[in-house]
Amino acid sequence: MCGIIGYTGKLQAANVLLEGLCNLEYRGYDSAGIALFTPSGLKTYKAQGRLSQLEAMLGENLPEGQCGIGHTRWATHGAPSDINAHPHASGSVTLVHNGILENYMELKDILLKQGRIFVSQTDTEVIAQWLDEEYQKTREPIKAIRQTLKAMKGAYALGILFADHPGVLYAVRKDSPLIVGLGKGENLIASDITAILTYTRDYLLVEEHEIAVIMPERAEIYSPEGKQVNREPCRADWDIGAAQKGGYAHFMRKEIDEQPHALEATISPRLNNGQIDFSVDHVEDAFLSNFRSIQIVACGTAMHAGMIGKHLIEFLARIPVSVNIASEYRYSNPIVGKDDLVIIVSQSGETADTLAALRLAKSRGARTLAIVNVVGSSIAREAERVLYTYAGPEIAVASTKAYSVQTAMFYLLALRIACLNGKLDTGESSSYIEKIQEIPQIVEASLKTAPLCKKIAADLADAADLFYIGRGLDYCLSMEGSLKLKEISYLHSEAYAAGELKHGTISLITDKVPVIAVAAQSSLLEKMISNMREVKARGGFVVAICQAGYNIPEDAADRVIYLPDLVKDELFAPLAAIVPLQLIAYEIASLRGCDVDKPRNLAKSVTVE
Ligand code: G6P
Repeated sequence: MCGIIGYTGKLQAANVLLEGLCNLEYRGYDSAGIALFTPSGLKTYKAQGRLSQLEAMLGENLPEGQCGIGHTRWATHGAPSDINAHPHASGSVTLVHNGILENYMELKDILLKQGRIFVSQTDTEVIAQWLDEEYQKTREPIKAIRQTLKAMKGAYALGILFADHPGVLYAVRKDSPLIVGLGKGENLIASDITAILTYTRDYLLVEEHEIAVIMPERAEIYSPEGKQVNREPCRADWDIGAAQKGGYAHFMRKEIDEQPHALEATISPRLNNGQIDFSVDHVEDAFLSNFRSIQIVACGTAMHAGMIGKHLIEFLARIPVSVNIASEYRYSNPIVGKDDLVIIVSQSGETADTLAALRLAKSRGARTLAIVNVVGSSIAREAERVLYTYAGPEIAVASTKAYSVQTAMFYLLALRIACLNGKLDTGESSSYIEKIQEIPQIVEASLKTAPLCKKIAADLADAADLFYIGRGLDYCLSMEGSLKLKEISYLHSEAYAAGELKHGTISLITDKVPVIAVAAQSSLLEKMISNMREVKARGGFVVAICQAGYNIPEDAADRVIYLPDLVKDELFAPLAAIVPLQLIAYEIASLRGCDVDKPRNLAKSVTVE
């Protein structure tokens, strides 16, 4: 949801900014722009469309200068256009913004009455103008920023240049991510670490309302009251290789292949002496015991991982669990309090609605536990406890490996909670733990379905609509498979509980509407076969995904994808079955010529509500 970057140092800033924007483009790609101090003053270059449009506009001879800011936009206020692209300038101020200024109309009215003229339709230009107004009064950047923050309502991460302070970057944040990258003789600001990994792995977190002042040799952080604060640097254990395609056509395909490794990295630190142990995460047993209910809150794919989590926790620990879409939860006056555990799931740790839901749950006294991939993100910092997933950077907008590690975390959690509330004895628990340890190998083996998935994708790519059906855990997977397909291939699809299909939706099944039937639960297989036959009887083309050794009759499916025979327990089938679903979506999107990593209108990290 917009990416920002800033650089000051010894290198040509334009190169650094363009490279950083390339790594941030997954956050939005409606327009891109940079501003930098050139030998002939502060200059701005911006263009509607992908970063490549800006690069084409700049040509071979990039503007010179060693300090600047950059932005890649996901439009909120004002259509994607050259004029609405960031950076926005007013008088001495040029800035980039990630977030939404909620009271921009009110502030704009005041500025208009003062005779100010606006060139864009954005909320961001209002910030630039307001800040310039303040700056003209004292010509003191920090004072002017502090005054401006007092007027602003909403979310923001801002990178700011003042024309008469060449070489210095100013930055501030509230509810939108921002870090300060620490190099040698050079420093940076960025929305996230992937943008600056080429230059450094050391960074400072900027807390809410803090102001960062960045020069080549030092980075200073000031409290909202204007006092300088000491901040210990953090070190990212992601390396630049993890944020590059490494020979793959798309990040999504690479990230699908990275799943066994990500799973191993996430599971192994939590296994100790044959037990699940969250002491490395400081999530003590008491924290996971004695609650009335569990509420899982998340958006998108993370919410789908939560659906599997509900199933696992209820099955193993027999505690009631609800799964909630964060944007609904926060406005639903949820029944939540000190006796409940709220589990917040988020890859980025920055999703605005998820963060707001976390704050709501906390304010009502609930215990809050976050499952997050990005270290130091807002959700990770604000939740009472955090379980980090170790997927490494996920760049493709469509989430794959993050989903798998979130799901794996729910296996670990469900088992631990079940042991703590006495629903599993030591023997049962050990047997499950052995199966958890096998997850990475199972997923590795499931990746071998790739050639078959590619062939099947060719059968499906021209469909007008597509259905996914499943029961129980397989229904949760169907939801995720369907989301994956529609978000990247623009092929409309729907996920249905298989037993529900005949209550209306089966009327949509024709020979042009194929059905992917996820049937990896032995206990539900017979019922699934009946549902598949119902579809076949209406002319539908059926692809079944099932466990090795299942006997799928010819009149029930046209194609069958068998999962690896390593899956010995149907409870563990989801992590194997998600792989062909991801691969089919990927291959269909590729065949349809879609921009797989950057689907239209979407952004990976949604930091607006
Ligand atoms: C966006 C992304 C999805 C993601 C969702 C939640 O919609 O496109 O892939 O699942 O946000 O993101 P989070 O970072 O909170 O997991």
